[in-house]
Amino acid sequence: MKFSILLSTYHATNSHDLAKCLDSLCNQTLLADEIIAIKDGPIPEDSEHCLLDYSNRLPIRILEYPVNRGLGVVLQEGLLHCSHDLVARVDTDDEWIVSRTGIRERRIASDHETTFTLARDAADRALQTAGLTGPDVDLVIVATLTPEYGFPSTASLVQEAIGATTAGAFDLNAACAGFAYGLAVARGFIESEMYRTIVLIGSDTMSRVVDWTDRSTCVLFGDGAGAVVVQRTDTPGGIASTCLRSDGSGGPLLIQRAGGSRHPTSAQTLLDGSHYLRMNGREVYRFAVTATTEAALAVMVDAGWTTNEVDLFIPHQANVRIIESAARSIGIPMDHVFVNADRYGNPSAGSIPIALCEALDHRRIQVGSKIVTVGFGAGLAWAAHALTWTTPTGSS
Ligand code: ACO
Repeated sequence: MKFSILLSTYHATNSHDLAKCLDSLCNQTLLADEIIAIKDGPIPEDSEHCLLDYSNRLPIRILEYPVNRGLGVVLQEGLLHCSHDLVARVDTDDEWIVSRTGIRERRIASDHETTFTLARDAADRALQTAGLTGPDVDLVIVATLTPEYGFPSTASLVQEAIGATTAGAFDLNAACAGFAYGLAVARGFIESEMYRTIVLIGSDTMSRVVDWTDRSTCVLFGDGAGAVVVQRTDTPGGIASTCLRSDGSGGPLLIQRAGGSRHPTSAQTLLDGSHYLRMNGREVYRFAVTATTEAALAVMVDAGWTTNEVDLFIPHQANVRIIESAARSIGIPMDHVFVNADRYGNPSAGSIPIALCEALDHRRIQVGSKIVTVGFGAGLAWAAHALTWTTPTGSS
């Protein structure tokens, strides 16, 4: 049955190289209707006859090399350096922040950027990279704990903005584990064959709920969004195991008390600052290391993988020390762990898709790479996946 496309990158400096790339693409995708090749560099000047030759065998669409391949990521213009920008506001210093968290800088949304605009732009890029448009989309999921409004959902705003005219849309709140939860939901819809194309976005503007006078939290969080297009593929691989967990007894450890049904916004809640995020850092730290370790091991066991087989571990980027400690407990060496918390801090639900996208950009992921990813956060909630990457640029 023919139904798929192969989304791939190629890098060729002459027509001979290009022919080799196209050969391998054609061999990988005997069942595909067409090839979408993402140009990773300039098209060689002498390549026209070669492209013509191959496009007689299979339709080939060449796309420009996008900013981030296979996925869409939006990071904010505002760069916040740890101590330089913060010491003026709270009693902290660069040495403390870097040694306790590993975070050196973060992106902070400008006044005209919101959770919705970041989500929309990330979704646009993901669709463009996948060679799809709004009408191709069946479902839009936005994982966020900082939605544009109480309601309507941010996902509905994105659905309209990307022209996904026949899609359903909803927000999903599992805090920093939101993207990992969203991937489990997308997996369910795809595997049940209810939907064919799902845009899953993790987007948060944590700077809008952080108390900038609370030094124990304002040094940690950042803003950002990442999006993926999830589709069925014939290539062996995909998500081998999923683990979702929650422990509601830990709710008070990380909480935004006001603005909901229990404590509607009032002059009093504004006065006592209960509309801000509050956290018991030490307890969340302990939880994070244990949860990350247990969930990662659970999906690896379920997938039948040993630690040696894991090519890349992509954990939630809350704190480099948490990541190092969990990696040690799991038994994965740090050169198999992706870390970008030093540059982005913790962009909550945006964290894992941004890391995934960067890992692709840095060529840390290839077809067949075995990846373990774990998200954790308020709830308490945590989630993990063991997945084998199926396309070089990863739209599926
Ligand atoms: N600068 C200087 N000193 C500070 C700062 C700061 N920014 N923040 C706290 N301190 C002080 C504290 O007041 C304390 O001083 P004291 O001993 O005089 O009381 C001292 O540093 C030690 O504080 P701890 O809280 O014990 O520091 P710790 O080593 O635990 O590090 C941190 C704190 C970085 C917050 C850590 O606990 C952590 O990373 N926790 C996990 C947080 C997390 O991952 N949250 C996101 C979850 S995802 C989501 O859903 C949103």
